[in-house]
Amino acid sequence: MKQHIYAAMACAAALAWTAPAVQAAGPEDAMVKAGCTACHNKDKKVVGPSYKQIAEKHKGKSDVATLMDKVRKGGSGVYGPVPMAPNPPDKISDADLKAAVEFILKH
Ligand code: HEC
Repeated sequence: MKQHIYAAMACAAALAWTAPAVQAAGPEDAMVKAGCTACHNKDKKVVGPSYKQIAEKHKGKSDVATLMDKVRKGGSGVYGPVPMAPNPPDKISDADLKAAVEFILKH
């Protein structure tokens, strides 16, 4: 019985290891896993603008799909000359990216 459980656990671990962009536990977790937090922070500008700065600029003005597209392709010029690198689907899934953008806009 115990062995079965261990075998199942090893199997689950192997699956998690090989699957690209595993569905994250929540938007914050997804952003840590995708490396967004290396450049973005809740209320301090790091390399990229803070969540608050982004929310201020876009709240009620821009739709989530437009911002998802920007994060996917990367780009610069909205906050300054520093560019955001592209973030392809193997880094963050569509579902997680949507949740992350919605999460940022709530600030
Ligand atoms: C290498 C650093 C870096 C990483 C990694 C990064 N960003 Fe950015 N991000 C930036 C910079 C710099 C800007 C500002 C670009 C500009 O001025 O147009 C930005 C802008 C944004 C914006 C606002 C875009 C706009 O046009 O207003 C959003 C939303 C965003 N990032 C989300 C994310 C998410 C989600 C991730 C993770 C998947 C991520 N970023 C990863 C540096 C980064």
